[in-house]
Amino acid sequence: MPMRIAVCISGRGSNLVALVTALGPDAPARVVLVLSNRASAPGLEYARARGIATAVLVAPSDGAEWLGRLSEAKVDLIVLAGFLRLVPSAVIAHYRDRIINIHPALLPSFGGPGMYGHRVHEAVLAGGVQETGATVHLVDEEYDRGATLGQIRVPVHGGDTPDTLAERVLQAEHRLLPAAVLAAARAGRPVPFALDRSDPPEAQTSGKNSVCHAP
Ligand code: GRF
Repeated sequence: MPMRIAVCISGRGSNLVALVTALGPDAPARVVLVLSNRASAPGLEYARARGIATAVLVAPSDGAEWLGRLSEAKVDLIVLAGFLRLVPSAVIAHYRDRIINIHPALLPSFGGPGMYGHRVHEAVLAGGVQETGATVHLVDEEYDRGATLGQIRVPVHGGDTPDTLAERVLQAEHRLLPAAVLAAARAGRPVPFALDRSDPPEAQTSGKNSVCHAP
């Protein structure tokens, strides 16, 4: 039985697309539900077009509404992919250690409340660091705080703008998130993982230590 995945989105949904695309028919995981706090999130259209169940949360801070949707779809693992709200504590408690998030930086740097979207990349550039990346981590009651499961490093170039950096990091995210979900599906729960070095190399351009995983 494939692991049943719910993906939570607030907008575009490119990580959702990358995940669904990576999970072929024989994969050990399947996206069975896309949840959003915004009815206009473009990722919902993508899911509907592929016959994936979708739901727009009427009250995103209401744990009971979440739990109803999740149990109806028999969800095993929740993936936050560009979901901009805090997950209700009742959901965290029920799915403890079965919720993961993707963040567009190398946590614990450049994370926490208010650190989302372009703000992250602006902060990275303002910080003058030479390397950024993406992180998949467990979700607990606070933004971006749970244990790191896997990271991918991405170089910062001299002429980067928040846009160019966001695009380079996003390409890396699209490899990292499927790897995290596949590792979780094989283990039966989210686990620390490393990317397969035979994966396409676009995000491995930072040279040594281009791929790492949590200690
Ligand atoms: C990604 O950068 C993700 O890391 C962050 O929000 C963005 C969502 O992009 N949490 P998309 O909706 O998956 O295209």
